[in-house]
Amino acid sequence: MIAPNPDQKFLVRVKRQDGESQPAYWQEFEVPVRPSQNVISVLQYIAANPTTTDGKDVEPVVWDAGCLEEVCGACTMVINGRARQSCSALVPELLAEANGGPITLEPMTKFPVVRDLFVDRQRMFDNLIKVKGWVPIDGTHSLGAGPTESPEKQEERYAISRCMTCGCCLEACPQFTKDNDFLGAQAIAQAYYFNEHETGKKLKKERLDVLMGPGGVSDCGNAQNCVQVCPKEIPLTEAIGKAGRQLTVHAVKKFFTGS
Ligand code: SF4
Ligand code: SF4
Ligand code: FES
Repeated sequence: MIAPNPDQKFLVRVKRQDGESQPAYWQEFEVPVRPSQNVISVLQYIAANPTTTDGKDVEPVVWDAGCLEEVCGACTMVINGRARQSCSALVPELLAEANGGPITLEPMTKFPVVRDLFVDRQRMFDNLIKVKGWVPIDGTHSLGAGPTESPEKQEERYAISRCMTCGCCLEACPQFTKDNDFLGAQAIAQAYYFNEHETGKKLKKERLDVLMGPGGVSDCGNAQNCVQVCPKEIPLTEAIGKAGRQLTVHAVKKFFTGS
């Protein structure tokens, strides 16, 4: 591998905002090329050298991060126009797709901006509470072995379990907006995941009642953007389709039995 030239520099444009109700503005920074550089290391450089290309000393850019290995989703932002994780977005690839630069960094647009590139993803966690995204376990004492699950079912659920609540699927979804109550692909897929869990299915009816209500599965327009952008390659549209079939059965049962 050819070592990067330490004198080489590239430009980074950052969309900044002091808070959700504040106006957004752009600033440009020059950053030296370093080996194994990702967007987090670019932001660390800017934090240590917060001077724009027109010579102004500014407040360091604010962003969020946790695991630094594409597991927590906290560092997700819109990079060169596409929502992705800044810890796994590598500078050489970003420069190649931007024809040498500048690399653009923006906050996701579907969540309130806390500051600069840091957004509040709380709606996703609230939606997980709405769809009861957990396995109900009564008490902390040993309950013995749980029900068995087929390898095929484990494999199907494993794919969905990789969700890191990053928000890329919601950023890309035309139906998910800041001012509506659509649950979005992430929460619907998780509801399906827990409905298919042998113990989790104890709450299946309650989850399906939520998915049948406002903001539920019927609000999905099947645009399929979500499945194309999910960094964990979760089969989101398949999960939404299967949740939709569970809903149909649930609705028919409800019609005849009232529960
Ligand atoms: S299929 Fe389309 S409308 Fe439905 S959740 Fe995915 S992106 Fe949104
Ligand atoms: S489903 Fe995929 S894109 Fe959506 S929040 Fe989970 S990991 Fe991110
Ligand atoms: S810091 Fe956790 S996904 Fe990037």
